[in-house]
Amino acid sequence: MSRIAYVNGHYQNLRDAAVNVEDRGYQFADGIYEVCEIVDGKMVDFPRHMARMQRSLRELRMAEAMPLSSLKIVMQEVVRRNRIHYGIVYLQISRGVAHRDHGFPSPAVKPSLVVTAKSLNFAKNQAQAARGVKVITTAENRWPRVDIKTVGLLPNVLARQEARDKGAYEAWYVDAGGFVTEGASCNAWIITRDGKVVTRSAERGILSGITRAVLIDVLASLQLKLEERNFTPDEAYHAAEAFVSSASQIVMPVVSIDGNVIGNGKPGSIALRLREEFHRFSAIS
Ligand code: PDD
Repeated sequence: MSRIAYVNGHYQNLRDAAVNVEDRGYQFADGIYEVCEIVDGKMVDFPRHMARMQRSLRELRMAEAMPLSSLKIVMQEVVRRNRIHYGIVYLQISRGVAHRDHGFPSPAVKPSLVVTAKSLNFAKNQAQAARGVKVITTAENRWPRVDIKTVGLLPNVLARQEARDKGAYEAWYVDAGGFVTEGASCNAWIITRDGKVVTRSAERGILSGITRAVLIDVLASLQLKLEERNFTPDEAYHAAEAFVSSASQIVMPVVSIDGNVIGNGKPGSIALRLREEFHRFSAIS
């Protein structure tokens, strides 16, 4: 079965789908994106992802590509046409197509909209979560507006490749103050030896993850103590547990950071519990 993408009003075979070479997303990374998990063919936490998308657009003074109700139909249709049972759906919105000039096109042009979806292997993800993953740390080198989910992901690409080159799954950024910000495509968490669940505040230095927000609800219901504060790699090396969160992985336990074994080197029980409980708290549509 061929994969189908939605590109500016058309559902097309992925191999034929293309954007204009003068698209500002391509020329300047002048665009935003969103990623939703799909479970049982349905989108997880769609309203929260759309609220973040609208915020990203506002921050970049970009127009909405279409009304939210229509966008939801397009995304559901891409999921349906690709017969995704478990996977992820991506959307990218750029400021549109215009002759190359750094300033915004005037008059404004229509934003470009691309929606794609892909299946993920549930059993493989579960097996990986049962083993846990390794992370490395790397110096933060992104722009200060990482709270906006832009398609400008070159530093994230390089960080992920650095992790791979070192035999790790993910890289955690460390800011100039010596504190962990987040991963190349996930939020970073540790659990202290006295059972406190720690993640950086979403006020500065990270993307405010939707999975992170739902996990905060899960923690409250499990009566686990949350601390939104900075932590250093050294604190992480000595933590009882560590994990990362994102729409595509939900909760992925971390068993090694910069070669330091976390806990007993196996996924921690709290991380696994959070992974298990997550979908009871997320909204499906
Ligand atoms: N990444 N931080 C960064 C830099 C991210 O790219 C992501 C998500 C997150 C977690 O956000 P959420 O829980 O809303 O997925 C944090 C997505 C999954 C991606 O780029 O594919």
